[in-house]
Amino acid sequence: MGLPAMKCFWKAIFLLALASIAIHYTAIQSFTAKSSLLCTIPNPLTERVLDTPLAERACDEIPVVSNVSRKTHILILATTRSGSSFVGQIFNQHFDIFYLFEPLYHVQNALIYRETQAKGSIDHQNKRMVLSNHERHMMLGAGRDLLRSLYECDLHFLENYIKPKPMNHTTNRLFRRGASKALCSPSVCESLEPDDTPPEEVDCIKKCGTLNLTLAVESCKDHEHVAIKTVRVPEVSDLRPLVEDPRLNLKIIQLVRDPRGILASRSETFQDTYKLWRIWRATGRKPYNLDTNQLLTICKDYLNSVSTGLNRPSWLKGKYLLLRYEDMARNPIKKTEEIYNFLGISMDSSIVRWIENNTRADTTFDKHKYGTIRNSEATAKNWRQKLSFDIVEFIQNTCQEVLVQLGYKLVNSDQDLRNLSFSLVEEKTFSPFF
Ligand SMILES: *[C@@H]1O[C@H](CO)[C@@H](O)[C@H](O)[C@H]1NC(C)=O
Ligand SMILES: *[C@@H]1O[C@H](CO)[C@@H](O)[C@H](O)[C@H]1NC(C)=O
Ligand SMILES: *[C@@H]1O[C@H](CO)[C@@H](O)[C@H](O)[C@H]1NC(C)=O
Ligand SMILES: *[C@@H]1O[C@H](CO)[C@@H](O)[C@H](O)[C@H]1NC(C)=O
Ligand SMILES: *[C@@H]1O[C@H](CO)[C@@H](O)[C@H](O)[C@H]1NC(C)=O
Repeated sequence: MGLPAMKCFWKAIFLLALASIAIHYTAIQSFTAKSSLLCTIPNPLTERVLDTPLAERACDEIPVVSNVSRKTHILILATTRSGSSFVGQIFNQHFDIFYLFEPLYHVQNALIYRETQAKGSIDHQNKRMVLSNHERHMMLGAGRDLLRSLYECDLHFLENYIKPKPMNHTTNRLFRRGASKALCSPSVCESLEPDDTPPEEVDCIKKCGTLNLTLAVESCKDHEHVAIKTVRVPEVSDLRPLVEDPRLNLKIIQLVRDPRGILASRSETFQDTYKLWRIWRATGRKPYNLDTNQLLTICKDYLNSVSTGLNRPSWLKGKYLLLRYEDMARNPIKKTEEIYNFLGISMDSSIVRWIENNTRADTTFDKHKYGTIRNSEATAKNWRQKLSFDIVEFIQNTCQEVLVQLGYKLVNSDQDLRNLSFSLVEEKTFSPFF
């Protein structure tokens, strides 16, 4: 087999894996034909799946839409280390929003689990949490199905992906359960009395024990809105089937951050994956085998997605808001108000209190690496002390187009890079369009 044929072969294997998961759960769901994997806008990567008779049947069976959701569903479309935990909190703190932190983690995990099991490898999972571009796209169909189910509060759907598989609809393996206030509050947290305040994220599992997903479903239904944060969807057009579904009333907040800041933050957080970047920083010499794929992916995804959003296609009318992390960090309350205006949801006072309490310099600085408790503005800028000018220049060359598009200024000298009174964030408003 030549290289292209080889690629095709692996693509087919992956699609089969996805399709069999899809069929598996479609059966569980008594074939409700809500599968967006099988019934989606044409995508060159999934066309093969679409061609099958099963897919045709699934598409035919989609019921005529006669009802429009009164709930607003919110998706925070982000990348890792772009401030998404912080932005997620402005929804998590709202008493009427059910917030989930990265449920698509489980889809990715399940695929890798299958793949490594198929190869008979015992060392599965964490070693391969970084997917290729290609695999990310493969994951999308299943990811969209999961999102749709979760917006409908069908958290049981997630059970198909959690490893080990939940027993009696309970699990203690839900990824970052503690990041979801609703999942740590009475009555989902069975050890709490109705008036108790929920524990901090880090104490949630210890305090609340096993998660009963049936209780989580009930809690979700008791909330007016559902918000989900994900870093596993490359670009906004990947969500088009969900955006166009009037039953969902989905609104997307695309959170972007200066790629130079993302890279600095990831190098600290994911020390293995970004090791060569750190070696470059430490030695002043660019390693010959530096892997620039992650950086290229950030910039390509941003460019595609933001271009789509800013072009104002009719399918995104009233449904897309572009948010720069730096603006949020500089003026969190004002930005939060803008976000809630866009969503048409009223803000509750606990959000302002939370922001005031969590963005000041004098509170516990950098409490833990995924935390949000820190001086938000200083954090947004601190990459300028952490990267060498060489690295910054390299990123600027690689990502120039998107930096300009998003209003991030390029620096021409080490002096400008370190001079924090010289802002690298142009004033720019990205108004939503209605
Ligand atoms: C829409 O669905 C809700 C809940 O399923 C139902 O109560 C309502 O009557 C429906 N509205 C229309 C116009 O069908
Ligand atoms: C699931 O429920 C059944 C029946 O109540 C019980 O026998 C079994 O031990 C439970 N399994 C687990 C893992 O809790
Ligand atoms: C989970 O909660 C539901 C609803 O209260 C209850 O019926 C079920 O027995 C609980 N499951 C377990 C395993 O405790
Ligand atoms: C503010 O933060 C402190 C320390 O983390 C915490 O004890 C307090 O409950 C918080 N107050 C509000 C209103 O969130
Ligand atoms: C830092 O930037 C400010 C604002 O652009 C400028 O006025 C100042 O001269 C700069 N300082 C240095 C040391 O370059």
